[in-house]
Amino acid sequence: DWIMGDYIEEAVARIREQVGDEEVILGLSGGVDSSVAAALIHRAIGDQLTCVFVDHGLLRLNEGDMVMDMFEGKLHARVIRVDASEMFLGELAGVTDPEQKRKIIGRLFVDVFKAEAAKLKAGTGGHKGATFLAQGTIYPDVVESGGTKTKKATTIKSHHNVGGLPEQLGLKLLEPLRELFKDEVRALGVALGLPPEMVYRHPFPGPGLGVRILGEVKKQYADLLRRADAIFIDELRGWKDEATGKSWYDLTSQAFTVFLPVKSVGVMGDGRTYDYVVALRAVQTSDFMTADWAELPYGLLKKVSSRIINEVRGINRVTYDVSSKPPATIEWE
Ligand code: XMP
Repeated sequence: DWIMGDYIEEAVARIREQVGDEEVILGLSGGVDSSVAAALIHRAIGDQLTCVFVDHGLLRLNEGDMVMDMFEGKLHARVIRVDASEMFLGELAGVTDPEQKRKIIGRLFVDVFKAEAAKLKAGTGGHKGATFLAQGTIYPDVVESGGTKTKKATTIKSHHNVGGLPEQLGLKLLEPLRELFKDEVRALGVALGLPPEMVYRHPFPGPGLGVRILGEVKKQYADLLRRADAIFIDELRGWKDEATGKSWYDLTSQAFTVFLPVKSVGVMGDGRTYDYVVALRAVQTSDFMTADWAELPYGLLKKVSSRIINEVRGINRVTYDVSSKPPATIEWE
């Protein structure tokens, strides 16, 4: 039997032994793996860990604040929040090609993280300087890449990752989740006190809303999309399926909103509107290689649509994506 309390004690002891009195940097993304790694390492070595959270301005509504509230506010971890949104939006101006956008976001992300890591390596304010880089690599990542330490990449879409960073930074690698499967990582996260909503969250791509705003990324689009998406997710979480008692958030593998930079005509009150369109996407899948669009209840779609159109001025039309993968992909870009 796999007793979580014992597991945590052992893992904590192993981390303490490996790290000794040295210091560790970890890139916190808000995703499950880096969050659980951060919580576990913090449990083991406290302030010898510094988390770096790079906000690229393409996160979901209030996501940055939620990450800070959790790790700095509740766990009292040392977290450096880097607001790089202006830099990212600046570099993305005028760029419409999806792969080009991914490359820019991935490269900037690594540059910003590296700059912070270099400062931490040098040592600041009572800290002598980091010698370890921690990563939330889990067992399937290790296997898929044939035992090397890089994360998976597909040839259809380049998934940005931080392979090779420890070598480039001259830091030793700390990967406390290397032997765990995803469901074990989630259970560990809950046992460490992370909220289940965080630990059981749908996956979110590294380039974030950058690939959910079709074509050129603009702050105005990102702001509209964030608000529309928050409504969709909120309703999915609140809408229970009678047969299973589960929420539609838990019954879907991934659900999100896509911003379409085209305008359509609508009518509101006595006036004509000419505003943007969003598409709702919700899929069910076991491996993300193939996926079916989710047969969400019409009542749920109706509520989401009317809330988005009434609450988010600037969007006057909501559509539902009924394409499966293949031939469509889960993301629109
Ligand atoms: P697609 O759209 O290829 O997505 O069917 C499959 C899964 O991969 C995620 N995805 C990404 N994740 N960087 C990431 O970290 C990316 O560039 C990226 N593109 C797609 C997608 O959200 C889905 O879970």
